Amino acid sequence: MLFTRVFQVVEEMLNFHGVSLYYGLHTPLEAVALTYIDFSLPRESVLLVNGHVGSGKTSLLLLASKLIKPTIGEVHLEPGIRSAVVFQLAEQQFFCETVREEVLYGPRNFRLPGLEDIYTETMKTVGLDPAEFSERSPFKLSGGEKRRVAIACALALSPDILVLDEPETSLDDLGLCDLLSLLREIRRNRTLIIATHWPEFYLDITTHMLVLDRGLQAFFGTFQDFLLDYSEKAIQTVTPKSPILERARETLQQTGQLPNSLEQVITDGRGATC
Ligand SMILES: Nc1ncnc2c1ncn2[C@@H]1O[C@H](COP(=O)(O)OP(=O)(O)O)[C@@H](O)[C@H]1O
Ligand SMILES: [Mg+2]
Repeated sequence: MLFTRVFQVVEEMLNFHGVSLYYGLHTPLEAVALTYIDFSLPRESVLLVNGHVGSGKTSLLLLASKLIKPTIGEVHLEPGIRSAVVFQLAEQQFFCETVREEVLYGPRNFRLPGLEDIYTETMKTVGLDPAEFSERSPFKLSGGEKRRVAIACALALSPDILVLDEPETSLDDLGLCDLLSLLREIRRNRTLIIATHWPEFYLDITTHMLVLDRGLQAFFGTFQDFLLDYSEKAIQTVTPKSPILERARETLQQTGQLPNSLEQVITDGRGATC
């Protein structure tokens, strides 16, 4: 036992050590969701998890948030780190009568002090008027407002890691632009892990990239390295050729840096301004 720890690696904020995940192990329904996932993520990163439907994105997010345990390997979080998840259709999980109760449900459960301040501050962060929405039903909001309340519910727990499962799902252009500005705001002092089919949308906030191919880790690295390796076959079977990613790579190759903002690229052809 003593000798197994002699060559201990330096742990980052979140570490996956040789993680595999099976559902229904030793049953006729046994299915492998993830195979030998191995990476370390530093503090204040923005990690995109990209992959086709069924490639294991949601499973990976659940493991990263410690909501489930790996079958093989280890998920290690720095001690004291708090994570919160916004599920793909988080609004389907609303169950309180008012927005205020919905947002404060988690903090109440954790017996956090200062509920009034938590409510006001989180609502302001997600760009909703605390007083105006306080008594409204979360079920009767617009799609974009629902998504903001869902994010507020997670932020109310002051998580160090915020995990979002395909947050762009079923938002219109305006909702997408709001989402992007909100993520730019809340990434400060925080780590974000975002599962997505649409990596270019998050281009200007992304620091790291994990590409999953049928449960296998096709790529993990910095976003710069992802762009430079982007023509690799392993990545392109998952992340299709995209003019936006191509342009980002050109800028990186020419200047040695990622563009500061790709807003104009992102909005090209979409008719929206983020
Ligand atoms: N609760 C579950 N029981 C059995 N199999 C599951 C369960 N959840 C996911 N899977 C399977 O695990 C694999 C990965 O699923 P998931 O993590 O949801 O991928 P993604 O989010 O990329 O679509 C898929 O083959 C899926 O069918
Ligand atoms: Mg999923």
